[in-house]
Amino acid sequence: MDFVTASAPGKCILFGEHAVVYGCPAVAVAIEQRISVKLQPSQTNTWLLNGNILNLEKNPHISGLIEKLWPVKEGAPPLSIQIEGNIPPASGLGSSAALSVATAAALRRARGRWIIQANNTEHTSWAEGFSSKISQTDAYSSEDGFFFTENHDNLIHLIDNTAVDLDECAILAHSVEAAAQNGRASPMDSSTCAHGGVVIISDVIEESVDYIYSRELKVNDDNRQWHIHHINPNSTDDVYLVIGNTGVHAPTGKQVSKVAMMLEKEPSRMKEIEAIGKIARRGIQALLDSDYEMVGKTMIENQIMLTQIGVSSPELDVLIKAATPTSIGVKLTGAGGGGCMVALTRNPKLTSEAIELAGGRTLISKLGAQGITIDYAPKNPLWSSHKFS
Ligand code: PMV
Repeated sequence: MDFVTASAPGKCILFGEHAVVYGCPAVAVAIEQRISVKLQPSQTNTWLLNGNILNLEKNPHISGLIEKLWPVKEGAPPLSIQIEGNIPPASGLGSSAALSVATAAALRRARGRWIIQANNTEHTSWAEGFSSKISQTDAYSSEDGFFFTENHDNLIHLIDNTAVDLDECAILAHSVEAAAQNGRASPMDSSTCAHGGVVIISDVIEESVDYIYSRELKVNDDNRQWHIHHINPNSTDDVYLVIGNTGVHAPTGKQVSKVAMMLEKEPSRMKEIEAIGKIARRGIQALLDSDYEMVGKTMIENQIMLTQIGVSSPELDVLIKAATPTSIGVKLTGAGGGGCMVALTRNPKLTSEAIELAGGRTLISKLGAQGITIDYAPKNPLWSSHKFS
């Protein structure tokens, strides 16, 4: 039977967590651990998730993407969704964004995409889909992605193997993450999991790195805007990331509020946030120079500031201390208070053993894994209305 499989990486934050909430740049890197989504027509006439009936309310990311990408109203059949992966959930490693972007990619590949070829010329453009490059669609507020051109005289074709667009997957994943989190989600996870490599997010367009696109989201009458940039790290260098999980669950929202309260009480401590921003910019330059000794040094400086603003924890400190002798740089990654730390090292096995001996669970990854991949797809889409073909 025909099926489509797409996968996407998890992420960890190398520089700038917490300060990014106040407009400073943050640097996230895609890791080798992935989530894979397989779609095939359901044999039971209902949507299935890992063999059970899909509960749309309990899976808001998946149901949001089905609404935006799978035209049920036009008769598209229910699918069976199989999810596999090795990104630990709820640990700040982007498991929900990886699931969302991989699901978006698989649904789009299963659907194909209508394009317009105006007057038989070479010029083609999309007839449906969401992208920051297509101004008339609003993935955040609209559920309608199935628009067609008014002018049916144009030739309209269905494309399949080039139908998946990283930008569309990232924007849709961001929109469903925001919807599932009361409108609060930065596009850091969705962009990193979609594009892979190293992604920089900032309130300003950063000089010296490749700018890819901007994202806007209205959160409680406040229009937030982020600019997303990309670096492909030099993969020939023999450096690895070892991520150590404390196993302590610390919700991101609580950690972000803790910093907000500190700043409210002592506004002068905004200097510490600004210092993290400066450190992140130095880290970006070190990554661009492939100077990993400097990347590591900068991570250590970032950790000192994160401890100072009160977001490290005794459990994180134990793992960081254990990893330090064999690493180039070590810090917490994500919101802190628990969750994970990350070490940059040329001895991943030694560093991993040291973290495990200190009580952490570890993952090893090269720096900047590949973004979305379509791992299997048949020649034709799984379903299409074939209205115009
Ligand atoms: O817990 P994570 O990996 O999703 O990271 C949170 C990063 C913060 O800067 C603390 C919050 C945010 O929204 O950027």
